Amino acid sequence: MKTIKTLFVLLIIAVVGLGVYVYSGAYDIGADVPHTRFVDWLVSALRDRSIAAHARDIRVPDLNDPKMILEGAGQYAAMCSTCHLAPGYDQSETWEGLYPRPPKLYQGTSLTPAEIFWVIKHGIKLSGMPAWGASHEDDELWAITAFVMQLPKLSPQQYKDIVARAPMDTDMTMMPMPRGESPVPHHADGNAVPAESPARVGHGPQP
Ligand code: HEC
Repeated sequence: MKTIKTLFVLLIIAVVGLGVYVYSGAYDIGADVPHTRFVDWLVSALRDRSIAAHARDIRVPDLNDPKMILEGAGQYAAMCSTCHLAPGYDQSETWEGLYPRPPKLYQGTSLTPAEIFWVIKHGIKLSGMPAWGASHEDDELWAITAFVMQLPKLSPQQYKDIVARAPMDTDMTMMPMPRGESPVPHHADGNAVPAESPARVGHGPQP
């Protein structure tokens, strides 16, 4: 009985101590200083377990359709390469400043296709990874997933070629825009006017 009482008192002290620490503002939330080991462990465990659990029942379509991969290439260059870089594009100001650093997806990922899809659709809290499901349909997100699966196989030249052939993302969502307008100039047929190189638009990654 005495041990239980002591444990209870210790628990109360720990909770109050944690509360005082949080409210004191002593923890450095700045993105240019790494997490403490405990917070890093906590956030990583939350992220990894959450992604695995939420993606468990997702049914994966055929991701080898070349048309789908091509479509995903254009979306990736426009929406993802600024943060996740690409073959031949090894740095960007955004990538350097983010914490955690966005994984270089062309180096591969340990996530399954279902998990990749879930992350793209829902984003990741406390990281800067946006939830693209807020602005895109599932079939577009599967196309991006299909392309992400191909990324590690591409040389810098192959990446450039496939992006150049890909249909342009007509709503370049990485750029701010007035409500209901697209920031990309359009032809009369509704297709975007191709930029010099989609991967170099805005703060895009540099070779
Ligand atoms: C503003 C920057 C930013 C943009 C834009 C962005 N991401 Fe991310 N993404 C991140 C960050 C940061 C992480 C790491 C989050 C973490 O580990 O907690 C991440 C994580 C991921 C992961 C998990 C990878 C792994 O191995 O754990 C995938 C997959 C991913 N992003 C795909 C994409 C795709 C596809 C796009 C484009 C549709 C995209 N992201 C756009 C910042 C970004």
